[in-house]
Amino acid sequence: MNIKTYTESNRNAWNEVNPIHQKHNPINFKEAFRTEKFNTLDDHITQTFLKIGLEGKNVAQLCCNNGREVLSLVNLGARCGTGFDISDHCIEEAKELAEISGLPCTFIRTDVYEIDSAHVSQYDLLYISIGALTWLPDLHKFFSIASTLLKKDGRLVIYEMHPMLNMLALEDEPEYEDPMKIAHSYYKSDPWISNSGIDYVGNTTYESQTNYSFSHTLASIINAVAQSGIHITKFEEHAHDISCIFPHLEKEAKLPMCFTLIGKKA
Ligand SMILES: C[S@@+](CC[C@H](N)C(=O)[O-])C[C@H]1O[C@@H](n2cnc3c(N)ncnc32)[C@H](O)[C@@H]1O
Repeated sequence: MNIKTYTESNRNAWNEVNPIHQKHNPINFKEAFRTEKFNTLDDHITQTFLKIGLEGKNVAQLCCNNGREVLSLVNLGARCGTGFDISDHCIEEAKELAEISGLPCTFIRTDVYEIDSAHVSQYDLLYISIGALTWLPDLHKFFSIASTLLKKDGRLVIYEMHPMLNMLALEDEPEYEDPMKIAHSYYKSDPWISNSGIDYVGNTTYESQTNYSFSHTLASIINAVAQSGIHITKFEEHAHDISCIFPHLEKEAKLPMCFTLIGKKA
């Protein structure tokens, strides 16, 4: 299948799940973003951004979902923000939150593989986070596009689930009984194909649009970034869970559960 066949199918799946996420979300974002300086980012990534410095920066996020993170970055001090996402429904919600908050943020519905060339060299900081990379069939193409969006010396920040987690069983798989059992190959090269929904907020299952996600190894992520003209300046692995899928493993503190990668556009 070509890239677009996967991403269009996923667009339908994300349009379908967003109202379900809105219903189950423990935070009412429409209320929350009326509060001055509301920030939905966790402490680790908030501190990371504050150390890099957001003042005066034009920031962008790829696969921004409902825009909560872009809006938070502006509340933390960025000059303005832009979020890109393939889902019509997520972008509608993001635009509504931008209006409610009055923050200088723009949200654009687009496949990341088709971002308009008007965005080339526009951004001081590019953020990619929690559960974005798994939806992307071609990482090299993705990072070569992402890299063009940054100005020279602009920063890339990735805060993502660790690829080790791809080896573990999900709740609806028999191997889940032993949560540390390796259920899937780290090197799985064919896509995960699912019709049981992507409601990681309410944890409901439903007969859904077909969605395709991809296992990327840590090496493939690092190499795709490095080969896109971005110099990696920091890479950290963490024992805390950002996935909403494996919170029960966090207390064991045995696995790397997420990572932060910081890079600078050459
Ligand atoms: C797990 S969500 C990201 C959540 C976000 N990090 C947050 O914490 O709010 C993944 C997002 O990627 C978007 N997405 C998937 N494939 C995409 C593509 N090809 N282009 C743009 N966005 C895409 C989906 O619509 C979805 O909103």
